[in-house]
Amino acid sequence: MKEKIEGLRVRFASELGEAVSQESLEALRVGFLGKKGEIAELMKGLRDVADKKTAGQLINSFKNEVESAIADAEESLRKAAIDAQVRGAKKYNPTLASPRELGSYHPITLATREVEEIFISMGFTIENYDEIVDDYRCFEALNIPKHHPARDMQDTYYLDNGQLLKTHTSAAQNAIMKKYGAPLRAIFPGRCFRNESTDACHENTFFQMEGMMIDENISISNLIYFMKTMLSEVFKRDVKVRLRPGFFPFVEPGFELDINCAICGGEGCPSCKNSGWLELCPCGMIHPNVLSEGGINPDEYTGFAFGLGLTRLAMMKYGVKDIRDLNGANLNSLDQFTEDK
Ligand code: PHE
Repeated sequence: MKEKIEGLRVRFASELGEAVSQESLEALRVGFLGKKGEIAELMKGLRDVADKKTAGQLINSFKNEVESAIADAEESLRKAAIDAQVRGAKKYNPTLASPRELGSYHPITLATREVEEIFISMGFTIENYDEIVDDYRCFEALNIPKHHPARDMQDTYYLDNGQLLKTHTSAAQNAIMKKYGAPLRAIFPGRCFRNESTDACHENTFFQMEGMMIDENISISNLIYFMKTMLSEVFKRDVKVRLRPGFFPFVEPGFELDINCAICGGEGCPSCKNSGWLELCPCGMIHPNVLSEGGINPDEYTGFAFGLGLTRLAMMKYGVKDIRDLNGANLNSLDQFTEDK
């Protein structure tokens, strides 16, 4: 019995080494652990053995070995598959030298243009707006009075004259409402700044795209529809979204919009911290105070606003794992994204 098991152990090890797919692992499992597998055969052989107890123990411990080796191999196959997806076929390599002699578009520019085109097709205008704004635009007009705790998360760079570098594209909401009145459909991409310690997913300078739609009877369903349509176009597949409550003084109700992770399809992977969801776009119904401040009558009109994280969108779309690569100005690696647009 001992020799038999030893022989099987050697065979198992060599077959395990060759099993590089889920299918071959499954075949191996059936071959050894299945009803008619090798271990079942060994059990049958027990009949003819004198010392049944010792032989039984040997078989059992071999069985445990086989089970855990197969489970380990399955786990590493699964991890390798996710890893391969994260790195992707046509993914970003920060060390690749540039084959081009000419310049190229920055990935954020490419992502911005793509989203702009989608919103243009849905009747939105594109607005340009300042990077240096005053306190009123960035905060007060958005229902964030002085000393409101919501300001804590948006510390920024202040100039001597009291102006500041805008912390979010929402800073343009007031001016755009005053420019057009209602009804209104507009998006405004822009660079934003915050006092942030940098790491792989935080930067002091990043891009957002704000969107606003104001009309009679605009509801949360309109918001969900527009976001879903846009995201499905960008990711070229039907994107699942979910809304969680989120607090922003300028919307009521306010939400965090998550999409199911583009990298693992929602099963959970390192990029989505194994939750299957990625936070992409805070949004909500524009607060009546904000509408009034923009000269729009909140009894007559309602609207939604969203603040799409353009930098994050570009990172997901192009598989850039470190946000600092985007601001790093390494031309060699940045031009891999250009698709001659
Ligand atoms: N401006 C908010 C931020 O940057 C995001 C936001 C925009 C939330 C529009 C709701 C509506 O944190």
